[in-house]
Amino acid sequence: MKNMLITGGAGFIGANFTRYILQNDPQAQIVNLDLLTYAGSLENLRDLPDESRYTFVNGDICDRELIGRLINDHAINIIVHFAAETHVDRSIFGPSTFVQTNVIGAFTLLDAARKAWLEDKVVPVEQARFHHISTDEVFGSLQPEDPPFSETTPYAPRSPYAASKASSDHLALAYHHTYGLPVTITNCSNNYGPYQFPEKLIPLMIANALERKPLPVYGDGQQIRDWLHVEDHCEAIYRVLQNGRLGETYLVGGDNQTRNLDLVQTLCAIMDEVRPGAPHTDLIRFVPDRPGHDRRYAIDASKIHAELGWAPRHNLRDGLRQTVQWYLDHPQWIEAIRDQGGYQDWIERNYAQRTEERS
Ligand code: NAD
Ligand code: DAU
Repeated sequence: MKNMLITGGAGFIGANFTRYILQNDPQAQIVNLDLLTYAGSLENLRDLPDESRYTFVNGDICDRELIGRLINDHAINIIVHFAAETHVDRSIFGPSTFVQTNVIGAFTLLDAARKAWLEDKVVPVEQARFHHISTDEVFGSLQPEDPPFSETTPYAPRSPYAASKASSDHLALAYHHTYGLPVTITNCSNNYGPYQFPEKLIPLMIANALERKPLPVYGDGQQIRDWLHVEDHCEAIYRVLQNGRLGETYLVGGDNQTRNLDLVQTLCAIMDEVRPGAPHTDLIRFVPDRPGHDRRYAIDASKIHAELGWAPRHNLRDGLRQTVQWYLDHPQWIEAIRDQGGYQDWIERNYAQRTEERS
C-alpha cells in the first residue's frame, strides 16, 4: 500500500518528485496538496505520466480539518512534506508567512498524522511514514576552511527562512521521539533543474540572460553553494522513503561546491554557445549584498551513501547545460510563470533598491 500525500507538489522540487514517483513507482497513488501560492503552478504538472494515479487538491497545509480528511479519505500512509515558503530574500522582507507556513504548517501536518496513524489507526502504523524535506541552511554558514555539514553539525540558522525550517525539523523529530511518529528527514543543498521559479539564482540568471537583461550578483560573488540536480534529490528522497531508518536525518548534497560568480560565468559561457553575440558576461552586475548572507554551504553526504547507496549522478557542467536547454525549450512556461503572482513586483522590490556597485 502506497497512498502518498505530497505537499507543495506544484512547486519546483515537489513537481519533479511527483513526476519521479509516477515514472518509477507503479504502485504509488498520489494526492498532491498545494495552495498554489506565487511559487506553485499547475504549469509544472502538465502532461504527467499516468495521471490516473494522481489527484490534485488546492488547499493549505495549515488547514487541520482538510489534512485529517485527506488522510482518512485516501488512507494516506506516506506523507512527503515539501510545501514551504522557500526564498531567503522574501523571508527578509516578510518573515511572518515563513513562520505560518513552515512552522505552523509543518506542525499541523505532524499533528494530523499523529492523530490519524497513532490514535485512529487509519492505516497500520508499520506501513506509515512522514518524510520531512529540509535544507542545509539550518546549519548556518561555513568559513572556507571549515569541514562540510554533517548530520551531527549543530543547528545555527541565520535567516528567517532558515530559522523557520530549523523549527520544523525540531518539531518533526520531537513527534518521533515523543509519540513514536515514523519520521525521517532530509536536509539538502541548493537544487537546480527544470521548473524552478525564476526568483532563484540559476533560473533568474538564465531568464535574464535570454532577454539580455542585467545579471545581478550579490556582494563580491564569492559565496559558495553546493549545487544538486533536482533529479538526484528526488532519487535520494525515494531511497530514504524505501529504506531510511526512522527518526534519522540524512544530508543530501551534489558534491559541486561553486562560487556564485564562477557559476554565473559558467552559465554565461553556455549562453554564449546557444545564443551567440556579445559575451553574456557583459551583463554581470555586482549589486549590494543580501543582509546576513551565508558565506558557504557544503554537505558531507557519506551517511546516505553508506546506508542507502545514494550518490548524485549529475555533474554540474552537464546539469547546467541541460537546464539552460530546458528553459530555452520552454519559453511559454517562463512567460506563464512570470505572469503569475506578482513576479514583476517582486523583481522591482528586490532589485530596484540594489543600485549597482561596480561592473
Ligand atoms: P517552491 O517555492 O518552488 O514551492 C513551494 C510550494 O509549496 C509551492 O507550490 C507553493 O504553492 C506550496 N505552498 C506554499 N505554502 C503552502 C501552504 N500553506 N499550503 C500548501 N502548499 C503551500 O519550493 P521548492 O524549491 O520546491 O522547495 C520545496 C521544499 O524543499 C521546501 O520545503 C524547501 O525548504 C526545501 N528545499 C529546497 C531547496 C532548493 O534549493 N529549492 C533546497 C533544500 C531544501
Ligand atoms: O541551500 C538550500 C537552499 O537553497 C534552499 O533551502 C532554499 O529554499 C533555496 O532558495 C536556496 O537558498 P539560497 O539563498 O542559497 O538560493 P538563491 O538561489 O536565492 O541564491 C543562491 C546564491 O546566489 C546565494 O548566495 C545568493 C546569490 N544570489 C541570489 C540571487 C537571487 C545572487 O547573487 N543574486 C541573485 O539575484
